[in-house]
Amino acid sequence: MVIEESIPLYTFTTMKVGGNARFFARVRTVVELHEALKYAKDNAVPVFIMGGGSNILVASGGFNGLVIKIELKGIDWVKSADGIYVDVNVASGELWDNFVGETTTRGLWGLENLSAIPGTVGASPVQNIGAYGVEAKDVILNVTAVHCQSGEERIFYHDECNFGYRDSFFKTAEGKYYIITKVSFRLQTKSLPKIDYKDVRLYFENNQVTGREVSSQDIRSAIIAIRRVKFPDLNTYGTAGSYFKNPIITIGAFETLCKKYPDMPSYVIDREHVKIPLAWVLDVACALKGFREGHVGLFEKQPLVLVNFGGAESAEILNFADIVSRKVFEATGILIEPEVEHIGF
Ligand code: EPU
Repeated sequence: MVIEESIPLYTFTTMKVGGNARFFARVRTVVELHEALKYAKDNAVPVFIMGGGSNILVASGGFNGLVIKIELKGIDWVKSADGIYVDVNVASGELWDNFVGETTTRGLWGLENLSAIPGTVGASPVQNIGAYGVEAKDVILNVTAVHCQSGEERIFYHDECNFGYRDSFFKTAEGKYYIITKVSFRLQTKSLPKIDYKDVRLYFENNQVTGREVSSQDIRSAIIAIRRVKFPDLNTYGTAGSYFKNPIITIGAFETLCKKYPDMPSYVIDREHVKIPLAWVLDVACALKGFREGHVGLFEKQPLVLVNFGGAESAEILNFADIVSRKVFEATGILIEPEVEHIGF
C-alpha cells in the first residue's frame, strides 16, 4: 500500500469540488486497510473513509488527515438449499450499480428499484440508501466492519444497524469509528415487483410489458430511464443527488402548514410523524425550481438536487444551500438538514 501526499479530492467526488487530502491511500485488501489505519495512528492524523465520493461536499481547504479510499472487491453468491433466496456477500469497494446490474442479470429480486445510484456498496448501509419505495435495509442481512482504532472486526446483524430514513448506527458518534468492509444481502429468486411508487407506476402505464411477467431487469431499465430524465448527468454537472433530506415533522405541525398549503403532500411515518417531500416545498411553496446563483443552482427537473454548473467553490455551495434552507424556513418554519456529508469544514 502506498501513502500519497497532497492529492486533490475534487477528482474523487461527483460534486467536483474540494481541496487536497494531506495523505491518501487506496486499500484493496483488509490487510492494507489495517496498514493504513496504523499509518494514521502513528502520525496522529484523523481518517476519512471514501467510497464513491457521491454524497460528500469537501471543503476548499481539503482534509488535514488520511483519506482512505476503499477499493475492496469481490462478490460471493450463496443459494439457499431450497432455492428460494440467494445470500450475496459483497466487498464494500464494489460499485453499487454494477452490483445491482449483476443481481438483475441473474434474475434476482430486491435491489432493482435501487438502480442507477452512484457510489459504492459500503455506503449503502451508512445512508440506508433508498429510492422508489425500497431502502437498502429491506435486503441487508448484516454488515462487516473494522474499528478504526482497535482494528477489531465485527459483524453487525440487521437489527444492530438501527436503520432509519437515510440513517443508521454507522452515522452515530460510536458508529463512525467503524469502517465497512463487507455487506451481505438476501435476495429473492421469486418475482417480487414493487411498482407502486408514482414515477414507476406511471412508467409502466406508458411502457407496458406484454406477453410475459415484469422481470427485475424490466424494473431496473424503468428506473434507469426515470432517473435519466430527473437527475443531472454526472459527466456534465457536479452534483451529489438530493442535497437535503426530506423533513419529518409532527402531525400537528403538518396540520398547521396545511392551512397555508392545502395541497402539501405527505407520507405517513408513524402515528405522530409525516415526511414532507422537500421537492414539493421547493417547487410549489418556495418557487425555487431552477433557482440559480452564480455557479450553483437547483436542478430544474428535480429541485431537491443541487448542481454545481462548473467552477463553484465549496463555500459557494454551502452558502447557496444556506440561502435555500432559509427560504424554506421562512415559508414553512421547517429546519431542513443536509443529506450530503460535509468534509473538512
Ligand atoms: N415534486 C414536486 N416538484 C418536483 C419534483 C417533485 O412537487 O419538481 C414532489 C412530488 O409530489 C413528488 C415528490 O415531490 O411526488 C417526491 O419527488 P421524488 O419522487 O422525485 O422524490 P424525492 O423525495 O424528491 C427521494 C430521494 C431520492 C430518490 C427519490 C426516488 C431523498 C432525500 N431523496 O427524492 O434519493 O431517488 O426519492 O425515490 O430521500 C438521494 O438520496 O440522493 C436521492 C436522489
